[in-house]
Amino acid sequence: MAAIRPRPTPVCGFNRESMSDMTNALPPRKLHPNTIAVVAGRPIAPGSPLNQPIVLASNFRDGGEYTRTHGTDGWTALEQAVGALEGGRAVSYASGMAAAAAAVYALAPKVVVIPTVSYLGVRSLLSEYHAQGQVQLRPVDITDTAAVAAAAHGADLVWVETPTNPTLDVADLPAIGAAAAVAGARMVVDSTFATPLLQQPLQHGATIVLHSGTKFIGGHSDLLIGLCITDDDEIFERLIRARTFQGATPGALEAFLALRGLRTMPLRLRASQSNAAVLVERLRKHAAVQEVRYPGQGAMVSFIMRNGATAADAVCARVRILVPATSLGGVETTIERRQKYAGDAHVHPGLLRMSVGIEDVDDLWADLSEALEPHAPGTTA
Ligand SMILES: Cc1ncc(COP(=O)(O)O)c(C=O)c1O
Repeated sequence: MAAIRPRPTPVCGFNRESMSDMTNALPPRKLHPNTIAVVAGRPIAPGSPLNQPIVLASNFRDGGEYTRTHGTDGWTALEQAVGALEGGRAVSYASGMAAAAAAVYALAPKVVVIPTVSYLGVRSLLSEYHAQGQVQLRPVDITDTAAVAAAAHGADLVWVETPTNPTLDVADLPAIGAAAAVAGARMVVDSTFATPLLQQPLQHGATIVLHSGTKFIGGHSDLLIGLCITDDDEIFERLIRARTFQGATPGALEAFLALRGLRTMPLRLRASQSNAAVLVERLRKHAAVQEVRYPGQGAMVSFIMRNGATAADAVCARVRILVPATSLGGVETTIERRQKYAGDAHVHPGLLRMSVGIEDVDDLWADLSEALEPHAPGTTA
């Protein structure tokens, strides 16, 4: 019979407490996010594998624990890497929606300021709590900072999503964070579209940053995962309890793949952003396009077809390289008309939301411009 070995203590290059604890493995200076994405969350014990292997275990011998209550080294590795990028401590969940539900559980708000335009799943979740009489909602235009500040008075939570899904509006995070603090309200920021590379909301007073890791962190449209990050120890414990009691645990394979995706996120994002900038410029000159919405960085681009829903649906039907699909943040370019969903009925009927991938930009433009062409006599680009 093989000798029984005790479960080893996880030893990783970053721990949850602080990046200074990795000094025996890495130089004690502030690292660039491109480096953190590659080095954080790696086992550092002599002889250990470079990557934390997939831990397929629900149960551990005495001295170990049960996965739902204590997690696994696979989750910890991903959490260390995302936490290091955001400047806080991360908790991983089964999906972005599970992370959103955990944030609500952890903060137990009674009065919530919510963006009128934002990801419909989260708005539906909060509307459900409202319908059950558990919260009051104060919908605001998240780009109207004065309105957000006014609504924050008497609220206990300001829920921000920036850039917003699907209109790509940008909130003034420093100003909203300051206004929420003055009002005594907490701030949650869904930073999925920005990724941990383009903004760090904890620096602007957010209590919790949320990511659907399904999107840019995973980056390959092959998993569901979510993360909440906080720099508040008490909230961190509540976020852990939310996962334990709601049972919203990430899968072992998903956690492994998400961390593998994170390693190349800076490269992928750079390629996607460069493609997005070119497509934005060309779309802006196209006769079929009425308006292009792009926050100036990131891989998400929305544009409104001059001839409305019919023209937008025709584009989705004609593309051959772009993929008509609802999710986003992968290496492939996806496109979708959002107003077709009941929860996005207030969005412009001709708005197409595009998640720009890493294909060659000229192939993307050739495909997109052919799909736009029948509706665009007088195309200029
Ligand atoms: C901004 C945003 N937040 C949260 C979610 C929910 O994430 P998931 O689908 O991983 O549950 C999504 C999904 O599209 C999203 O776009």
